[in-house]
Amino acid sequence: MSDQGTQKPWQGRFAAPTDTRVEEFTSSLHFDRRLYRYDIIGSMAHARMLARQGILAAEEAETIIRSLKAIEQEIDTGGFVFDPAAEDIHMAIEQRLIALVGEVGRKLHTARSRNDQVALDVRLYLRDQVQELNSALTELRRSGARLARRHLGLIMPGYTHLQRAQPILFSHHLLAYDEMFRRDQARLEDALARINVLPLGAAALAGTTFPIDPAYTAELLDFPAVTRNSLDAVSDRDFVVEFLASAALIMVHLSRLAEELILWSSAEFAFIDIADAYCTGSSIMPQKKNPDVPELIRGKSGRVFGHLMGLLTTLKGLPLAYNRDLQEDKEPLFDTVDTVQASVRLMAGVLAHLSVCPERLAAALTGGFLTATDMADYLVTRGVPFRTAHAQVGQTVRFAESQGKDLADLTLAEIKQFAPQAEADLFEWLTVEQAVARRRSPGGTAPERVSEMLAKVEQELGLDPAD
Ligand code: ARG
Repeated sequence: MSDQGTQKPWQGRFAAPTDTRVEEFTSSLHFDRRLYRYDIIGSMAHARMLARQGILAAEEAETIIRSLKAIEQEIDTGGFVFDPAAEDIHMAIEQRLIALVGEVGRKLHTARSRNDQVALDVRLYLRDQVQELNSALTELRRSGARLARRHLGLIMPGYTHLQRAQPILFSHHLLAYDEMFRRDQARLEDALARINVLPLGAAALAGTTFPIDPAYTAELLDFPAVTRNSLDAVSDRDFVVEFLASAALIMVHLSRLAEELILWSSAEFAFIDIADAYCTGSSIMPQKKNPDVPELIRGKSGRVFGHLMGLLTTLKGLPLAYNRDLQEDKEPLFDTVDTVQASVRLMAGVLAHLSVCPERLAAALTGGFLTATDMADYLVTRGVPFRTAHAQVGQTVRFAESQGKDLADLTLAEIKQFAPQAEADLFEWLTVEQAVARRRSPGGTAPERVSEMLAKVEQELGLDPAD
């Protein structure tokens, strides 16, 4: 594959050329080329700083910067030839620079090492990706909020242990996911503080003998902070781990939502219908419409968790400072970025095109004794201690079940056998509408609470409720 004649920047030390299989094994160019734009931005800032400090002549820096821009163009437009022997994107760009401008190009790497360079590139890349993911999460939250607005007032069974428990608003259920995605956004925002630290100036590991000004480079690159320890600067990948952990949690949230959508779209539930555009068919069973998008989102969570474990494992035994093992941070990071971004975007699409079947939700409200807790609460308002009320309602439920009836279908006399304090107003109290409306506690499912919360969420997301 590769050309053993390609000049290595470190060839001075070596008598023999690199074995081709070693080149293939060690090269990261096929995946780290996605950092090219950040490598160029970082190098331009570095060159500017070197010139300002008198380490490079102003014209030299100008030449370098101009050529780096030209190289960026070449890569953008597909004209750049990636030499597989170049080892990584940093070398590939530097080699091209030297080919374009000659000797001056050989000065760019003054006061720098690939160790601090790659740390910088990954930070620049990740900061952009975090912002993009955050916007994708905003879009997902908007889809959810619109759906919640559209069906505000719709009652469904709430579940614990996947058994019908108490009636809730469908919108309340959706807003629970909004809380998760809101925390995910806060975590990403928080991670930015630790991504946005300039490692450049650490050089190989110990700092540099040149009179550099990292604060100036940081200003050019819009980093609010500069590394405080050169060894840490080149070996720290905590910010990648933090991102992978945040991504893993986003996938947990998406996967739980996906699981509910899959269940709800089954004939057994039939609460919702996932739009055709987000489903696929079966090659053998003509009737099938499968919820593949939520299934794949649920399935892809596995690889993202794996990437987190993989990087933690890569890091755990590393002595300071840079070790080549650190090159293994990129593929898991890139795959995580791709997977999570696609999953968030597709989930936003699924929600945007989701249809809800109110009749099915209504049907699921009957027969599950969903207002049994309400009957106990009713008895408490009549002076019965809660534990006693709980036992009385338990007996009433057992009786109703033996009769094949719901609580509200019993006569008052039947109920009074178990709950002597019950009166005729109990029947109105036991409707699901009343049950939901009474749960006015903060964060509860009462329509007034859910409306307030939805309005808050819409405001946060810049949504007009009339949209
Ligand atoms: N490709 C390397 C990485 O991704 C860049 C740094 C290489 N440094 C070195 N001393 N070989 O980590």
